[in-house]
Amino acid sequence: MKIAVVLAGGIGKRMGDVKLPKQFLEINGIATIVLTLKNLLDSRLFDSLYIVIHKDWRQYLYELLTNSLLQIPKENIICGGRERIDSIENALDILKAKGTNPDDIVLFHDAVRPFITKELLDRGLCAALKYGACVAITPVKDTMIIVENEVALAMPNRSSLFHGQAPDIFKFGLIYDCIKSLKPEEKLTITGTAQICQRQGVKVHTYLGDERNIKITSIMDLFLAKAIYREMYEQ
Ligand code: CTP
Repeated sequence: MKIAVVLAGGIGKRMGDVKLPKQFLEINGIATIVLTLKNLLDSRLFDSLYIVIHKDWRQYLYELLTNSLLQIPKENIICGGRERIDSIENALDILKAKGTNPDDIVLFHDAVRPFITKELLDRGLCAALKYGACVAITPVKDTMIIVENEVALAMPNRSSLFHGQAPDIFKFGLIYDCIKSLKPEEKLTITGTAQICQRQGVKVHTYLGDERNIKITSIMDLFLAKAIYREMYEQ
């Protein structure tokens, strides 16, 4: 079994003064989350798909999905938690309660990374089946500088630096056991899904991401997303 979990439980504080959480903002006339879901569903790689959403936006999402003709059962729309890691844990708890097999594959993707392709998913699923835990990465292009008190302390060798992207993909039993082993204070310091396993000493493998699969965080990203959309779907 392969299960996709789309994380949409945030409210997009860094996007600034906009009317809707960023996952609902439109890119060339289509809501970001709808584009993400369409791309995941069109890949036909998953047996089921869940969406984690803030409880205040559950009904809005449900209506958006209905209007977009996306058929996702209402019970697969689950409530998020305070932090991203809490949303992930809520999803894992529901999957556990549904009897998910330890060897089943669970993919976590951000609702705000709409430009996901079948090629990227194939690469990730292949790595997850082989290694059990994997994360998408893209090479860093700029010079990276470690700064302390406004002083450039070091400029690490770029060849070992990568951007952590998404999706993060795991064998269900592995990620479930790792998240349940984390202490509450450890959870507070986790920013990426793969860290959940890495903190427990599990080797997390990497696979090549896709530069177009940007995360929409600020208004600038939305401008960029509009250009990527045109390049990918309107040529
Ligand atoms: N997310 C989630 N549950 C949370 C927080 C975030 O499912 N409690 C999701 C977001 O909806 C988003 C993804 O995780 O799709 C990536 O997180 P981020 O870009 O940080 O989203 P927000 O938390 O919404 O943004 P911000 O940090 O600006 O508030």
